Amino acid sequence: MEQTTSCVLFLAFVLLVFASSGVADPLTYNVLNYGAKSDGDFDSTRAFVAAWTLACGSIKPATVYVPPGRFLLRGVVFRGQCKNNAIVFRIDGTLVAPSDYKVVGSTGNWILFEHVSGVSVYGGLLDGQGTGLWTCKRSGKGCPGGATSLGFSNSKNIVIRGLTSLNSQLYHIVIDGCNNVNVDGVSVSASGNSPNTDGIHVQSSTGVTILNSRIGTGDDCVSVGPGTNNLWIENVACGPGHGISIGSLGKEAEEPGVQNVTVKTVTFTGTQNGVRIKSWGRPSSGFARNILFQHAIMTDVENPIVIDQHYCPDEKNCPGLVSGVKISDVTYQDIRGTSATEVAVKFDCSASYPCRDIRMEDVKLTYRNKPAEASCTNADGTASGLIQPSSCL
Ligand SMILES: *[C@@H]1O[C@H](CO)[C@@H](O)[C@H](O)[C@H]1NC(C)=O
Repeated sequence: MEQTTSCVLFLAFVLLVFASSGVADPLTYNVLNYGAKSDGDFDSTRAFVAAWTLACGSIKPATVYVPPGRFLLRGVVFRGQCKNNAIVFRIDGTLVAPSDYKVVGSTGNWILFEHVSGVSVYGGLLDGQGTGLWTCKRSGKGCPGGATSLGFSNSKNIVIRGLTSLNSQLYHIVIDGCNNVNVDGVSVSASGNSPNTDGIHVQSSTGVTILNSRIGTGDDCVSVGPGTNNLWIENVACGPGHGISIGSLGKEAEEPGVQNVTVKTVTFTGTQNGVRIKSWGRPSSGFARNILFQHAIMTDVENPIVIDQHYCPDEKNCPGLVSGVKISDVTYQDIRGTSATEVAVKFDCSASYPCRDIRMEDVKLTYRNKPAEASCTNADGTASGLIQPSSCL
């Protein structure tokens, strides 16, 4: 009798040790076990897809694990729908794009998650190897458009935390058609003259937050496209780059608007723009409203505060350069620092739909140690507190 009891206890003990050691955890799929190699040379795409397929097919929460090392991936799509909605992608290593940009340069995406729900990407370095394509684009002809390094499309309940993205061919991170996305502690780095390498692009999405991130790149640090609602950006350092931009909006005649965007506690260093709203100068149903820019520090920024509704790079189908995009309810609160040009505040709005309810509160921008200038066209609103340059609203 006594022997049976101690035997059962011993067995329980063994099971406990086994379970807590992690060795027995069947729900962590290490890509090495599915054929991946960490030499940066071997194409690990199939191994990653195999690990993903198992995690996605699991009825319990599961983890795809990428250990230290360099893993070459050709273009890869991680597709839902999955059988569980708690998949962790834990990356201790580096994912490397093919050095020949033609391999993924025409597909639009390098690493894409599509129709997934409840996916968290923790850590990882993405090396987009974009320099070859940038050189091609700078010299002109016959280059593919390029691939976004990391995309989430038509997905929900997504976390991207502690990720580093380096030298993307095209955008670094794109969030499109998503709901509830939390980006935190991300670092983006590409040369200040790399073409179209936006840091984080958001469109057609609701409830996206971008926190505690550092973005230096050749295009917008964050760009916000049509159909974005309830976007929150806080504690982001931008530079080099083109700033944080709502737009371009109004490219299409029928287009959803952008509303309820908060951008707070951000710094811009040596950027082309600070906080910008930009629309095409052509007819559109688009709009931007309920926007707050709060607590921004500008250092040597060419256009610290700008609304530009006359965008039309090809100068085609832009009758009179008049934008249909309706901009209203935009607040600038506590924006300080230095402008690299004389005009630090520029509101260049639509003749058909003047900007309404622009509010400025405590704005102090200088140019060469003197107050900078402000310029307003078709802009209506109010100013309060300390305003320098003096308001033209
Ligand atoms: C605006 O967006 C924030 C998140 O960024 C959200 O918490 C808030 O409820 C939204 N406000 C409205 C009126 O939808």
